[in-house]
Amino acid sequence: MSIQTVSTQPYSDQKPGTSGLRKKVKVFQQSNYLENFVQSIFDSLEGYQNETLVVGGDGRYYNRQAIQIILKMAAANGFGRVLVGQGGILSTPAASCVIRKNSAFGGIILSASHNPGGPDEDFGIKYNTGNGGPAPEGVTDAIYARSQTITEYKILDAADIDLDRIATHSLGHTTVEVIDSVTDYGALMETLFDFSQIKQLLSSGNFRFCMDSLHAVTGPYAKALFERRLNAPAGTVVNGEPLEDFGGGHPDPNLVYAHDLVEVMFGDNAPDFGAASDGDGDRNMVLGSNFFVTPSDSLAILAANATLVPGYRNGLAGIARSMPTSQAPDRVAEKLGIDCFETPTGWKFFGNLLDAGKATLCGEESFGTGSNHIREKDGLWAVLFWLNILAVKGQSVEDIVKEHWSTYGRNYYSRHDYEGVESDRANTLISNLRGALSTMPGQTFGPYTVDYADDFAYTDPVDGSVAKNQGVRIGFTDGSRIVYRLSGTGTSGATLRLYVERYEPDATKHNQDTQEALANLIALADELAQIKTLTGRDQPTVIT
Ligand code: G6P
Ligand code: ZN
Repeated sequence: MSIQTVSTQPYSDQKPGTSGLRKKVKVFQQSNYLENFVQSIFDSLEGYQNETLVVGGDGRYYNRQAIQIILKMAAANGFGRVLVGQGGILSTPAASCVIRKNSAFGGIILSASHNPGGPDEDFGIKYNTGNGGPAPEGVTDAIYARSQTITEYKILDAADIDLDRIATHSLGHTTVEVIDSVTDYGALMETLFDFSQIKQLLSSGNFRFCMDSLHAVTGPYAKALFERRLNAPAGTVVNGEPLEDFGGGHPDPNLVYAHDLVEVMFGDNAPDFGAASDGDGDRNMVLGSNFFVTPSDSLAILAANATLVPGYRNGLAGIARSMPTSQAPDRVAEKLGIDCFETPTGWKFFGNLLDAGKATLCGEESFGTGSNHIREKDGLWAVLFWLNILAVKGQSVEDIVKEHWSTYGRNYYSRHDYEGVESDRANTLISNLRGALSTMPGQTFGPYTVDYADDFAYTDPVDGSVAKNQGVRIGFTDGSRIVYRLSGTGTSGATLRLYVERYEPDATKHNQDTQEALANLIALADELAQIKTLTGRDQPTVIT
């Protein structure tokens, strides 16, 4: 086995987005494309010689090939040990857990999250640091800079490792351990939640639960946890076999893409509780019988009920939410007398707050919820949190949410996505808005008067780093908000996201249809940004 040094040339398009480098599989299959990026990661790090690297992915097409390349490159570059999930599988939260538990130097996660998989679809790669979280911008900027000057990479000339058997191998001077994908993660979950109470609920015979893994990575985790350890009836987990193309579906747990689950949960004789998670297992959607819980409300409700759950019995240090997430969690934080941090979109912005002990729970409108137990959002953790609350309270999902609204008021909230818009048009829309911001405060539109209008900027309270241009916010004097931003995770064209929110304190007005309750603001959002005219679209592609 010899180390080969291979000459290469930079690719200009290796700038990581919100969550790593995501491109079509065909882009990654170009000669040296993946190798360049992996070498750029290693070249941007210092002190990893003889240290441990964790590698795994969501099982999508090209996962296995990529892992073999990464193992040989990690060996050639001098890592001492590599831990790789069996079959190449590690959900994103499990990878974060394994990195932390083994005090690894870092990890490489192969995933394009909720984007479709297959030979003509998406692939992705991201680097996580030793705290188990996505690399901060300083690191991803360094990786990108390196990718633009790279001239060679190192790879071991060796046979492929058998990823399917749990075993320990030698790859040059590096030890490669193929580990069970679920064990460490399952053990961590057991320290946080009351498994015996959840077990009682799931095996009681009068609580029905449906978990849709959308043929993505959480299948094996969900079966091990819910069906085997927590005694939920066989068949509770549906679409539980990870497939390279996710069965042709779009593994994104929202009302549009998780339509089978939505049909079940809004059908006759619907189960009591339904949940879905995304391609790499970090997102979640939760539903009650005929009832959808918005991710923003979910975060607020988990926070309000956290002390019912063993891992959070001593209360929360603080809550953090991304800027476009509704302000429902802020109201809980206020009542609890703790801080609620507002960060830019991207889980990486929570890392410092969690490491510094400033926040315990975090969440995003994009169906992400998590806590300080790891440094990624965690889909099944959120499902277990809900199950724990349901088991303790003995109420329905709908009753818990409505009770929450009557205590805190309801933040009506919706996101409208315009996907695959021509980039020029989307950029024009945002720059027009930016140009108009200074004139907006004080202006009145029907019942709404603009309180503030800005382009969100964030100064990290821990390291002082500043992130600018994170989305246009228009806040009104009654607490309503309109937010516009461009997605950082799409792979073709631009995706415009419009987020609309209105606060309703009056409990007699909590049962309106969300789109109707927000109709005036949605119309105003179009008027202010000329969405229809500038995108050329009559309607959003996705409404959640
Ligand atoms: C990924 C990130 C999240 C982010 C989401 C949406 O899932 O991990 O932190 O909220 O993408 O990002 P986007 O830029 O597409 O709105
Ligand atoms: Zn994901």
